[in-house]
Amino acid sequence: MKDHMVSNNVTDNDAALVPVDRLTAPQARAELQRLADEIREHDRRYYQEDAPSASDAEYDALRRRNAEIEARFPELVLADSPSYRVGAVPTGRFPKVRHRVPMLSLDNAFVDADVTEFVDRIRRFLRLDQPPAFTAEPKIDGLSLTLRYEGGTLVSGATRGDGAEGEDVTANVMTLDDVPHRLGGDAPSVCEVRGEVYMTKSAFLALNRRQAEAGRQVFANPRNAAAGSLRQLDPSITRSRPLGFFAYAWGEMTERPADTQAGMLAWFGAVGFKINPEGRVCDSVDALIAFHRDIAFKRGSLDYDIDGVVYKVDRIDWQERLGFVSRTP
Ligand code: IVH
Repeated sequence: MKDHMVSNNVTDNDAALVPVDRLTAPQARAELQRLADEIREHDRRYYQEDAPSASDAEYDALRRRNAEIEARFPELVLADSPSYRVGAVPTGRFPKVRHRVPMLSLDNAFVDADVTEFVDRIRRFLRLDQPPAFTAEPKIDGLSLTLRYEGGTLVSGATRGDGAEGEDVTANVMTLDDVPHRLGGDAPSVCEVRGEVYMTKSAFLALNRRQAEAGRQVFANPRNAAAGSLRQLDPSITRSRPLGFFAYAWGEMTERPADTQAGMLAWFGAVGFKINPEGRVCDSVDALIAFHRDIAFKRGSLDYDIDGVVYKVDRIDWQERLGFVSRTP
């Protein structure tokens, strides 16, 4: 660098180092563009190449910084801001499917005070004296899948994609042991069951060993191994990969079999799905925080990766009142 270019002034290019509350508007504009480009590239590497280029913490920090700058400079929010995009677009190798009910994403809480604030905001919105009951579930680090049943028979399976449109992976999901081809009992005539495809840690290590021995690609982590295994053009390869599926949500349903999240989970279990055994109903902030602490403690001994816990208002009519429809309900 030439002498006359050395400066103590922070230029727009150095804006990455400036705390959000000290950014000038031109720096904020440059930062929002840089963050959008960087997040898009990480998304592409993660979703389309199954080869992550940032740790979860680094990626979350980029998204958080982006959201904080947007909150300070709402007039500078980009039309294609990463805050309004989920994940990445489908690869184009599989036929696309438009989700009749969008597949949404979640906001993060990081500290106990955020949980208290979250519960309090919900309690006030619902005008309750006491916090409502919540289900607390581990957040499985896999990839989300929607399964459509018509007349109780599995007719299609699709990945989330960008939330509005995913990939049709029906032939592949048909090979998963945890995905029933017919629902037991009296299923609604149309029934979309959603959940997470994952690979256990032990299966991942064994798969990578086999892959390395055969001189084939090894996977970065169980999530990428699960994604790579599900998105194979040859279903017999998917069949040979040990994939699991936990059901935890739903899309279109002509009739809803239960009025609560816990009731829906029980119903999924009754009609043939695996549901995560760690899930609990919690009726206080303390119980929610204790759940998180217990799961954090157990995390290393669980045979699947998790990247947090998910709290859901248990009563579905209250979920609907709260707007379980925004990008991050
Ligand atoms: S609820 C509105 N429950 O987390 C979102 N998601 O960022 C509805 N995930 O795409 C999903 N475990 O892939 C829900 N017990 C769980 C989950 C879970 C993992 C994933 C899912 C979703 C992402 C949200």
